[in-house]
Amino acid sequence: MSADGSTLKATKRLSRRGFLAAGASTAAAPLVARGFSTSVEAAEAPPSRMVGTTLTINGQAYALELDARTTLLDTLREHLGLTGTKKGCDHGQCGACTVIADGRRILSCLTLAASAEGRAVTTIEGLARPDGTLHPMQQAFIDQDAFQCGYCTPGQIMSAVACVREGHAQNDDAIREYMSGNICRCAAYPNIVAAIRQARTEMEGA
Ligand code: FES
Ligand code: FES
Repeated sequence: MSADGSTLKATKRLSRRGFLAAGASTAAAPLVARGFSTSVEAAEAPPSRMVGTTLTINGQAYALELDARTTLLDTLREHLGLTGTKKGCDHGQCGACTVIADGRRILSCLTLAASAEGRAVTTIEGLARPDGTLHPMQQAFIDQDAFQCGYCTPGQIMSAVACVREGHAQNDDAIREYMSGNICRCAAYPNIVAAIRQARTEMEGA
């Protein structure tokens, strides 16, 4: 009886250990794959090539010497200290890095800095008036409590400004549709829609 009981307990311990070992190896697999993939990419990456680029950001010209592969997002954050534009996914999927170039919203994580030469780029830092008066969209986000952690907010605001200017904010359904590329992990969506509705009235009346 006790021998059988011990055997049973040992079997259970073994099974649990085996299960954990299997789980651990399964969980580790993507990490190994990711590391392997990275080293292959590093080995195959072309050598860096520096290019001279002049960017116009918020009305100011910046002459830069950059690796040709540098994104506009990294240029803003790492080279110009304009950290209002956020890096979320870095893969074009969240909208946190949205800026406006020549009146159109673009994802700065998918845009090479060199390709932005000659375009007028506006970031969240360039939205308020020089005297510090907030843009109607910024004020509306405050008034409508349209953020929680705030990480997505610069991208939401830049996208919302363009959304109104494009004429894609006629009603709540259109706002939701044309803001669908901007993800908010805090799910402040109802307040974001309310903020855009408020700012639209002011922007269209301006
Ligand atoms: S950081 Fe650019 S879309 Fe997510
Ligand atoms: S306010 Fe937190 S992610 Fe949008």
